[in-house]
Amino acid sequence: MKVMVIDGPNLNLLGSREPAIYGGTSLGEIRASLGEVARELMVDLEFFQSNGEGELIDAIHRAGEVADGIVINPGAYGHYSIAMRDALAAVGVPAVEVHISNVYAREEFRSRSVIAPVCIGGVWGFGSDVYEWGLRALIKKLRDNG
Ligand code: DQA
Repeated sequence: MKVMVIDGPNLNLLGSREPAIYGGTSLGEIRASLGEVARELMVDLEFFQSNGEGELIDAIHRAGEVADGIVINPGAYGHYSIAMRDALAAVGVPAVEVHISNVYAREEFRSRSVIAPVCIGGVWGFGSDVYEWGLRALIKKLRDNG
């Protein structure tokens, strides 16, 4: 079983970016601990991060060819990118939306997700642990569905 972990804009700066909101853990560190969870769950991971909407859409298309599931932190694009939503709907691979911060307790514009309706679920507000919970929830769902 293979999962693509996709990160959107500015998430390459995790660790130094607004640490009071996003914590001090870098994307590299998040990936390393996800790798350990993946070993425990016996799944393969492929990581992708981009600041560009088109590149992220290409990665979602690729996930449609090579992955059984997607964990995606869309960053700000999740609040308004209809193109990203359409890409997730088009490939039809089960996706879990994650956000490090509690987007519903912040600025009003962050309380809208245009990708949520085409995801099977989401995890937000638990800091960088959201990636692990998102991955575990996704794998359980995929295995339960056989
Ligand atoms: C974020 C929340 C978004 O609103 C923001 O634009 C991000 C990070 C999060 O992980 O909490 O870039 O997706």
